[in-house]
Amino acid sequence: MPDRGFALEQYRLRAGVYDHELAMFEPLRREAVASLRLSPGATVLDVGCGTGLSFPLLAEAVGPSGRIVGIEQCPEMLVKARERLASVGPCEVSLINAPVESARWAGQADAVLFHFTHDVLRRPEAIANVLKHLKPGARVVATGLQWADPWAWPVNLFVWGAALRSVSTLDGLVQPWSDLAAHVPGLDVRSTWMGGIYIASGTWPGHQASPHHA
Ligand SMILES: C[S@@+](CC[C@H](N)C(=O)[O-])C[C@H]1O[C@@H](n2cnc3c(N)ncnc32)[C@H](O)[C@@H]1O
Repeated sequence: MPDRGFALEQYRLRAGVYDHELAMFEPLRREAVASLRLSPGATVLDVGCGTGLSFPLLAEAVGPSGRIVGIEQCPEMLVKARERLASVGPCEVSLINAPVESARWAGQADAVLFHFTHDVLRRPEAIANVLKHLKPGARVVATGLQWADPWAWPVNLFVWGAALRSVSTLDGLVQPWSDLAAHVPGLDVRSTWMGGIYIASGTWPGHQASPHHA
């Protein structure tokens, strides 16, 4: 189970250097945002938005009449996200400083992005709270670290080092998307970075059609 105190400290200390550390993953971010298939005027949730690195791409996709809701529990990361807004295209942006599992915000979204948010995906109550705020048919995209095949030990050495710095639990790194897949039938999961990174995408059918409510 993720450890909130540990995670808060981890990101409090990383906030100043986080953007530089993530630079090598920016092509993956572009792919993730493209997979959201956002239209002008859409509302998108950026879960565990960190310093708001996805905001420029999301704002461009939803346009001036769209909305971004960024949810982030670490105040130091959210300060950076707020500073970034000055250079982000004109759309409505709501920033919520709270754990995803207990965060409250208004409105239903057309899409949700979980970009490198392993701790969130290992909390079923966080996923449930996000699903409550999705329109049926919403796009769901998640990315992050995962264990590669056991023989790919150099890749797993990289995953281990990166995970120690960015997640508070190694549990679930075999299939980090597994809880999400229980709600999103046919979730498409692809591996990249020699198996050390996944990108999962799909469409949430709505509560009536969700297998969890059958
Ligand atoms: C690796 S960073 C990813 C940040 C951002 N999504 C990005 O693409 O750069 C993970 C973020 O999730 C946040 N986080 C972890 N657990 C959380 C939770 N339960 N509720 C809200 N934010 C959480 C961390 O504080 C951190 O900012």
